[in-house]
Amino acid sequence: MKCAPMSKSFTLLTRRAVAVLVAMQFVAAVHAEPIEIASPGNVLKVTFELKDGTPTYSVTRKGVAVINSSKLGFKLKSGESLDGGFQVASSKTQKVDTTWTQPWGEQKDIRDHHNQLRVVLEGTGESSKRMAIVFRVFDDGVGFRYLIPKQGGTDSIEITDELTQFVFPEDHRCWWIPAFESNRYEYRYTDSPLSKTDKVHTPITFETKSGLYISLHEAALTDFSSMALKRTGGTTFEAELYPWSDGVKSRGSLPMKSPWRTIQINDSPGGLIENYLILNLNEPNKLGDVSWVKPGKYVGIWWEMHLGVSSWSSGAKHGATTKNTKRYIDFAAKNGFDGVLVEGWNVGWDGDWMHGEGNFSFTKPYPDYDLNALAAYAKEKGVHLVGHHETGCGIENYDRQLDDAFALCKKLGIRAVKSGYVGFGQGINRTDANGKQQKEWHHGQYMVRHYRRVVEASAKYDVMLIAHEPIKDTGIRRTYPNMMSREGANGQEYNAWGGDKSNLPDHTTILPFTRMLAGPMDFTPGIFDVLFEKEQPDNRVRTTITKQLALYVVLYSPLQMAADLPQNYEAKPEAFQFIKDVVTDWEFTKVLNGKIGDYITIARKDRNSDAWFIGSITDENSRTLEADLSFLDAGRKYVAEIYRDGEGADWDKNPYAIVIESKPVNSTTKLQLKLAPGGGTAIRLRPETK
Ligand code: NOJ
Repeated sequence: MKCAPMSKSFTLLTRRAVAVLVAMQFVAAVHAEPIEIASPGNVLKVTFELKDGTPTYSVTRKGVAVINSSKLGFKLKSGESLDGGFQVASSKTQKVDTTWTQPWGEQKDIRDHHNQLRVVLEGTGESSKRMAIVFRVFDDGVGFRYLIPKQGGTDSIEITDELTQFVFPEDHRCWWIPAFESNRYEYRYTDSPLSKTDKVHTPITFETKSGLYISLHEAALTDFSSMALKRTGGTTFEAELYPWSDGVKSRGSLPMKSPWRTIQINDSPGGLIENYLILNLNEPNKLGDVSWVKPGKYVGIWWEMHLGVSSWSSGAKHGATTKNTKRYIDFAAKNGFDGVLVEGWNVGWDGDWMHGEGNFSFTKPYPDYDLNALAAYAKEKGVHLVGHHETGCGIENYDRQLDDAFALCKKLGIRAVKSGYVGFGQGINRTDANGKQQKEWHHGQYMVRHYRRVVEASAKYDVMLIAHEPIKDTGIRRTYPNMMSREGANGQEYNAWGGDKSNLPDHTTILPFTRMLAGPMDFTPGIFDVLFEKEQPDNRVRTTITKQLALYVVLYSPLQMAADLPQNYEAKPEAFQFIKDVVTDWEFTKVLNGKIGDYITIARKDRNSDAWFIGSITDENSRTLEADLSFLDAGRKYVAEIYRDGEGADWDKNPYAIVIESKPVNSTTKLQLKLAPGGGTAIRLRPETK
């Protein structure tokens, strides 16, 4: 009885306190004070501030500056620009802590734990402009995006410049590839101080003297122009959007959401890889039941074209013949591969196909390729053809055929398609409303929209996608889980072609810390005949064969290719066993060690069994790395099946020396991995069976 009034007044008090709090957090307040938001563990802090009406932000990690005061905003073609003259109309915070499950991936369950700040800005005085900026602050990174509501009596917008800056406090070391060049994302990485960059693609990765690792990129790019960065002096980068042919950078209808601008921040290079900020910033699965999406491995009529053994075009050397395809189907069935990729199967490869003329048919096979019979033969053998849609950047031609092309796939049981966009720089043909030909950039908004149409069209027919010469990955696989893998960097093919663009031994020790922070890569590992002396005596792969095995674990892709010719695998059945055993869908990913451009060791747990796999690779230097197996179940016995560089192995002089051995291990074991120059180690850890 006595307690009742007490508890009533307590309740009233609490209600009042909550009301005050709500007021602080959610009610409009015009102010120019900086607004701070910290990450859940108080590791990162973002400060938003209007400086003379211009929106700015800065980021600190444990009190140390990561991004100094940097401007935000846009210049518009018409109406009031969104670059200054603002006051804060309101601000609001929100805490989020949820865990979601990837239908497939490098990590099954992903925690989304962040604090959000949404700042609504309005023009001062007579101005009626409005814009909101949303920041999501995680312990290992920050994402922010712009929300632009309807305004100025119009519901469309044309952005002529994005003003987002990233001002670094120091001249950090960084790994980057150039933007606005002809060859898309296909360049060797440069390792330089940031003051030596000009226009660069993202992801770009920085190492600070105090031991922080920072990556700039974007998330959820589905209807905007791709963002490159340009250094505008000193240690400042500014967003540089790929323009349309008329100079507008990005256009659309209002209200508009920009993609997220992302800053991943970790205190180890491996931390960047175990960082799921970009996926967290994408929208959840839009496709519903995706049980038809199946990670796996494929072989294909592919490497033989790159070696010049056969051709995509018709004629005596045509690779995609019925007979040759049956050989690959038999090989796939015998060795447990799900897919057989066939390039050059369709009419359009004869003559110059690379310049957007659009001569490809995506439904008409060459006469020596019996598509229907092969699809049936594959089915009988328990494998699937993997389709190939090289567009040659004839975008309108492909768009016209999308529905028919994917309907045909569905009819024939083709569950995955590899697409291709060989085309250069600003060389994409677009017919404008007046019937005039315009030239668009490969990464501009025109192409971003096209790629999204393809993702949606393929999903409609239950087809998975692997895109070569893609729009860079920004995590949209979360929203469209049929978007499996992409190229988007120098892949294996550069080794067949030779010349000064072929990959050096350190290339694959850079990719996991740069390009692959964006998402999976179809690198196409697994070349056993690394010298291919018969086919291309002047070119070669600059690794040992053991490193080729380790790449299956190091370079994540849900669809992995065993890229070499069947006969080269048949010649080395013991080493081939690892490619047969390795899986492509993971429950956990752990980076055991790594140094950008030098070495990396990754352990991943199979999602469908208790086995773990380890891949460890080095650059041109030999080294011994330790793999601490404490991630294994305590008290459980495992067998480590180890594929390591043999005595005297060396990418240059002795790439084929390999030792395959088994040893008992458990969670207290620390394996010493001896890697040859340009070498690697691949391990399967399976629970011991009696
Ligand atoms: C370039 C792609 O990366 C490669 O995989 C493909 O074979 C050719 N284009 C032809 O489409």
